[in-house]
Amino acid sequence: MDEVLKPNVDSARIESVLHQLDPDVDRPAHVIATEGLNLHFGSKSILSGVNMDFTRGTITALIGPTGSGKSTFLRTLNRMNDRVVGFRHEGDVRLDGCSIWDPGEDLLTLRRRVGMLFQRPNPFPMSIKDNVVSGVRAHRIAKGKQLDVVAEIRLREVGLWDAVKDRLGDSPYRLSGGQQQLLCLARALAVGPEVLLLDEPTSALDPLSTESVEELLRRLTPALSLIVVTHNLGQARRVSDVTMFFHDGRLVEYGPTDQVFERPRESDTARYVNGLMG
Ligand SMILES: Nc1ncnc2c1ncn2[C@@H]1O[C@H](COP(=O)(O)OP(=O)(O)OP(=O)(O)O)[C@@H](O)[C@H]1O
Ligand SMILES: [Mg+2]
Repeated sequence: MDEVLKPNVDSARIESVLHQLDPDVDRPAHVIATEGLNLHFGSKSILSGVNMDFTRGTITALIGPTGSGKSTFLRTLNRMNDRVVGFRHEGDVRLDGCSIWDPGEDLLTLRRRVGMLFQRPNPFPMSIKDNVVSGVRAHRIAKGKQLDVVAEIRLREVGLWDAVKDRLGDSPYRLSGGQQQLLCLARALAVGPEVLLLDEPTSALDPLSTESVEELLRRLTPALSLIVVTHNLGQARRVSDVTMFFHDGRLVEYGPTDQVFERPRESDTARYVNGLMG
């Protein structure tokens, strides 16, 4: 075979392992959608009437003033609010057309399909390698030696492999904050989510670590749908395709990020993206 046409051995190996682990890796665009979603805590309405479609391969930024319901909305998408005292919802969230509250929906499967990364890195108290593969083990996606391959693939994917390959058995707490966040991202990716929810994922990180996470988010699409809450408007502009602006208990406006920032339809959006609203 012509030297130039030889497949790259590493990427061929990685692809084949990914296919074994996840036969649906070539599946068509999935959609998570909200339909007339109203969210409340006790008697207080947090958001009402949110209708939104999220497609595979899209990064959506959720922006809005503090207390506008961004985290509440995000956490609803994988039922993280279900057990919060006083939380109620009306309307629906549909993953691939099925309600996430359907009695037949298994919560563990939902959380596998719709993963989450929090503001502060939260590695588990176990080795670096075990952090990456904990979900893979729990979901019985892989076992034994396969786990080593999964750990390597995911750590390479997030750019951490060289930094940790000689200390996979060590505690993650000696890694820097940025490295810990990348480790948590590797852990979230390891179970093959279709949607990843990120709540201010870089607000605890320095500018360089922020840049690595942002680059990584861009690389993760088109395989994944990412929904990112951010207070950093520069970040929303840099990484997202679509922006949603929440204010005053509702989704005021959404659209392509360039449009929302450069030609907002609503005056509140204009005030917010121009820094005139806190
Ligand atoms: N567990 C809870 N019980 C009662 N009210 C809550 C609870 N969590 C959040 N809220 C209220 O819901 C509203 C929306 O909060 P949320 O955390 O979603 O806002 P946010 O847009 O993420 O804000 P921030 O930008 O500060 O993170 C706020 O008024 C908050 O006080
Ligand atoms: Mg929040």
